[in-house]
Amino acid sequence: MSQYYPIDTSSSLISPDISTNNLQPTKPLKLGVMASGNGSNFDVVAQAIQEERLNAQIQVLIYNNPSAKAAVRAANRGVEAVLLNHRDYKKREDLDRAIVKTLQQYNVDLVIMAGWMRLVTQELIDAFPDKIINIHPSLLPSFKGVRAVEQALAAGVKITGCTVHLLRLEMDSGPILMQAAVPVLPDDTAATLHARIQIQEHRILPLAIAAIGNR
Ligand code: GRF
Repeated sequence: MSQYYPIDTSSSLISPDISTNNLQPTKPLKLGVMASGNGSNFDVVAQAIQEERLNAQIQVLIYNNPSAKAAVRAANRGVEAVLLNHRDYKKREDLDRAIVKTLQQYNVDLVIMAGWMRLVTQELIDAFPDKIINIHPSLLPSFKGVRAVEQALAAGVKITGCTVHLLRLEMDSGPILMQAAVPVLPDDTAATLHARIQIQEHRILPLAIAAIGNR
């Protein structure tokens, strides 16, 4: 039987350990955010900009699912939102070409995939080389793909977390920009664990955007 020791659940390890202040991009970054669902990560980026913790502006939100709450969040924040419904496109490449066109129309220089639940093609990657970042709810390279939190629970790991990385064609691969660790508690369900992972996602996503903005 495994033995558990008291864990300070508020503690987490963020790598690298840096403050936002010395990371502020000197020129406002023009962001395009892509989301499929809830959009809490979209919201924290918008909030960081509003609170001047991130020198950026969100040019556009692209969403693929008509009922995505992210679109409501965008409206509430006065951010333009464009629906590109994947069901309207025969091939993944066609959807990605439409995405690229929209991002270019909105003059985006950094693309944030914040819960974008579609596989992407080279069309998108080639249009923004090293300028697309993704957030994933595990400590990559562990637990790639869908249901990453469930995968971590099933594997019985005691620590998991979240990762911000540069996008590559292979799913959830690509150079890691920032990670935060989250302890798995004995009674965790996928929902409780994902909720604590999201708290850390919300901390590291604006930091990682600022960091890459300086490159
Ligand atoms: C996050 O857990 C992210 O890591 C994953 O999808 C989820 C999106 O959450 N890629 P939200 O829509 O930003 O709330």
